[in-house]
Amino acid sequence: MIYSCPFNYVGGKSKLLPVLLPLFHPYTENVFVDLFGGGFSVGLNVENKKVIYNDINADLAELIRLIKNTPFNAFESKLLQLIDRYELSKTNTQGYLRLRSDFNALRDPYVFCLLIFYSFNHQIRYNSSLQFNTPFGKNRSSYNARTQKNLRIFSDILRTKEVTFSSLTFQKVHVPDNAIVYIDPPYLITTGSYNDGNRGVSQWNEASERELYRSIDALHQRNIPFVLSNMLKKGDHTNVLLDDWKNKYRSFDVATQYKNYHRKEYQTQEIIVTNVPYKG
Ligand SMILES: C[S@@+](CC[C@H](N)C(=O)[O-])C[C@H]1O[C@@H](n2cnc3c(N)ncnc32)[C@H](O)[C@@H]1O
Repeated sequence: MIYSCPFNYVGGKSKLLPVLLPLFHPYTENVFVDLFGGGFSVGLNVENKKVIYNDINADLAELIRLIKNTPFNAFESKLLQLIDRYELSKTNTQGYLRLRSDFNALRDPYVFCLLIFYSFNHQIRYNSSLQFNTPFGKNRSSYNARTQKNLRIFSDILRTKEVTFSSLTFQKVHVPDNAIVYIDPPYLITTGSYNDGNRGVSQWNEASERELYRSIDALHQRNIPFVLSNMLKKGDHTNVLLDDWKNKYRSFDVATQYKNYHRKEYQTQEIIVTNVPYKG
């Protein structure tokens, strides 16, 4: 059984779980560190009792922490009150804009949750002053029966786990000796809204990528198992740093996709790099 993140998180890895979970399986007694946790679709689905969720986006980490610590009915009733107060619907642009402006003034996590549900493509995007700036997902985005069901399941499963939350840059996360670390950084060669420079919380670049590899090498030196997922190729672009670094460890292709068969620029190759044994 795989549980979905209710936020349609850009870069979410639920589709990769059938490949990832068997790699984690020998380490269920370890502390599972989801270093770039995002929508938490990976950390949520592992069997490990103790999980560390980290993501540099403090609004997101705070929201997931709140969902974990609040009974679903209480959490949802706050959402429903706000939906009423702002008269949110699939068509009320003004209501959404008032919600967004109040979030930017007050940073309320319930309001943030609704912004994700009602924003265009459910994207979480900020300007350079960290003001949430995703436009309204008119006629498409809302809090509906499907999101309600996913949110309830997300909340129920989260509350069975022991999770520690942080919103640090990855270098600052304390990784205990008995950890297994899952690493899902922004991709150097794509334009997910978390790494296109508009997200406000982080600009992922070659320096970050090099630093990440240094941190992973340090984990390996400490005999800590790690699993990295990343994109090696997109169209004509190759992540040459990754292509070189991956040779130190085991790596394999996970999903080569031809989203649009006729357009080469959409062709992507994702890989796993790991120091854990696997049957390939
Ligand atoms: C590919 S997404 C992770 C998706 C996640 N695995 C999921 O299934 O939802 C990458 C995440 O890295 C976060 N991030 C970007 N720069 C970071 C940094 N320097 N340290 C920690 N997290 C960072 C982004 O906010 C984003 O949520």
